[in-house]
Parts: sequence; C-alpha cells; structure tokens
Amino acid sequence: MFTLISVLSLASLLLPHVLAGRNSFLRCPNSDHYHKPGSEKCCKFYALRDDLQDNLFTNHCGDNARLAVRVSFHDAIGYSKSNHSRGHGADGSILIFSDIETQIFPNLFLPPFLDQLKPYLTKYPGVSAGDLIQFAGAVGISNCPGAPRLQFLAGRPNATIHGDPTLIPSPANSAETMIARMNDAGLTAEDLVHLMASHSIAHAKNVDPTLNHAPLDSTPNKFDNQYFLEILLRGTGVPGTTKNFGEVNSGMPAQGELRLQSDSNLARNPLTACKWQSLVDDHEAMKDGYKDAMAKLAVLGQDVDDLYDCSDVIQKAPFLRSCAASYPPGKTFADVDKSCSAPFPELRSQRGQPTPIPQDY
Ligand SMILES: *[C@@H]1O[C@H](CO)[C@@H](O)[C@H](O)[C@H]1NC(C)=O
Ligand SMILES: *[C@@H]1O[C@H](CO)[C@@H](O)[C@H](O)[C@H]1NC(C)=O
Repeated sequence: MFTLISVLSLASLLLPHVLAGRNSFLRCPNSDHYHKPGSEKCCKFYALRDDLQDNLFTNHCGDNARLAVRVSFHDAIGYSKSNHSRGHGADGSILIFSDIETQIFPNLFLPPFLDQLKPYLTKYPGVSAGDLIQFAGAVGISNCPGAPRLQFLAGRPNATIHGDPTLIPSPANSAETMIARMNDAGLTAEDLVHLMASHSIAHAKNVDPTLNHAPLDSTPNKFDNQYFLEILLRGTGVPGTTKNFGEVNSGMPAQGELRLQSDSNLARNPLTACKWQSLVDDHEAMKDGYKDAMAKLAVLGQDVDDLYDCSDVIQKAPFLRSCAASYPPGKTFADVDKSCSAPFPELRSQRGQPTPIPQDY
C-alpha cells in the first residue's frame, strides 16, 4: 500500500496535466505536447513554435524577435476600412507578395528576414502566411522579459491580393496623421500609444544609414517602461549622422540611442501625451494595453468567426522585476519635456555614469 501511494504521488508530481486533467488535456499526435479537447487543430502550432524558437529566435529577445514583431505590424496595418482593395490586413500578403510590398521605404530591409520565414510555410502546410506572421510575432516577443502573453487566433486564409505599403505609418508622421491612419484601419489613438510599447524592444534599422542597430531606448532586450520615459527626455543630439528622414534629437545620443520623429510627436501631442505619460510608471498597463491592441491588430481584415483560438501554444515571457521606469544616470525630472498636465510620476534615479547601450543583436 505504501509503495502504491508513493508511486501515485510521484506520478502526479511528474505528470500533473495527465492525472489531474485527464479530461481536459489530450496528447497531440506524435508529440509530447498536450491540447485542450476540441483544439487538436492547434497541434501543428506546438511543433512550429519549437522550430521557430530553436532555429529562428534561439529563445532570445534579439534581432529576429524584433523583426517578427515589426512584420506582424507591417502586414496587419495594410488594411483600410474605406477601401478594401488596398489590402486584406493580417493576411500574410507581406510574405506572399513580398516582391511588391518590400519595394518601398518601411519594408526595404525586410527581405532577408522574410526569406528566413518563408520555408516554414512549406514545412507546415496547414499554416497560412497570415497565421505564420502573427504567430511568429507572438512567439518572438515571448522571449522578451516583461512582455505579455499575446492572444493567438489561427485560421486566416492565405492572402489573395497585395497590401498597399503606403498604409504603413512613416517615422516622419505627425501624431494627427498616425491617428487618422489608425482610425482608418479600425484602431484608436489609445491603441496606437499601446502599440508603441513594441518600441521598448526595438532597434532602428537604416533610419541613420550608418547605424543598422540603433536602440530606441536603453533596454532594447526588455519589454519595460524605460522607452516611455526616455522618449520624453529633452533631445540633445543624434547618435550618428545628422538630418536623417524620420529622426530627431535623442535624449541619450552619446549612449547610442536614436529617436524617431513619430515617437517624439506621439509623446508630446496633446491628443496622446497623457496616455503616454501614464505608461512611464505602470508596467501592468503597458502589458495589458499592448496585449489588447495586438489582439485587434492581429485580426485586422479577418473574419474572427472563422478563426480558432490557439493562445495556449504561446509561452509566458520571462518575468521582469520592474514596475516603473527610472531616470538614466545623469538625468532628472528637469530633463523631461512634460507634455501632459497630470502630475509626473515620482521615479527612482539610476546610479553611476552614463554608459553605452549594450549592442546585443
Ligand atoms: C482603392 O484602392 C485601389 C488599390 O490601391 C485603387 O486602385 C482604387 O483607386 C481605390 N479606390 C478609391 C475609390 O479610392
Ligand atoms: C499558403 O501559401 C503558401 C505559399 O504559396 C503555401 O505554401 C501554403 O501551403 C498555403 N497555406 C494555406 C493554408 O493555404
């Protein structure tokens, strides 16, 4: 009897999902993964996830994770409520019609990354281009400490027309222009500010032609609030060459940080400044807001009733022990371009000397 009990309790430690949830989880065919009843269609995404993690992302919040997040936006935003011939949104057209869609500025440098994604389409035949792109974005960002676990719905049909790449916002846009573009795609100004959280893990590529990896904040490998604070710091110079399209003075040029004109505009415009400021010290709001805005973005132009939920496949991001931004060394509230009338949050200051932002791709 003693032996039987200890064998059972050992088994329940090792296989909790099998014993406790015999009724709730089922094994995917030829796999160690388990799915909920009714979602066996999600099984192919477990295999795809492991493949992407091992081979495309190497489980790392690096360049390919950043590019996957960027492509998930550039594909989906190719949608206009006022003219459906300009694109079908999150349909994978950027992959299927990459020859056309990478002809213009915001997509010019994407072909090498898209070429790395394409083989997964043939390797996983039931996965459409639109599914692959949104899935890669959600899996990619799950490598970044502090990121939310994004919703993932599957079942988008393959793109049948190319998107109009001029629908992608430009780094030189005013806040008003970007808000109007978002509204035309079915998103709000608030969604836009929440989507900017993706720039907390971003590098600018070729905005300054001499800098292929210019971070937009001091922690480009973490989904943290530094970005929302640092964009509000008064601009003092640029990290590389001057007079680049879409670039303005950054608050931390000597450390290598680059600032996009569009980011600067959103942080300071009366329409968006208070939402922006609210994200300086609230990591939960940053996470939840990004998750909700991405849930809308990822299905733009799609018929949600035809999609099925495979969010269980997406893993949790590493935990981040941080709930507010802190002033980088040498910076204080006196350096903030305060743009919202609400009181500015009290923030800690980092000690030490300003140091270059680590170059980690
Ligand atoms: C809708 O978009 C298509 C494709 O870009 C374009 O050819 C057409 O002129 C547009 N229609 C209107 C009414 O603007
Ligand atoms: C989508 O198109 C790609 C490329 O043409 C193809 O490899 C893939 O099998 C298609 N997937 C679906 C689900 O139709």
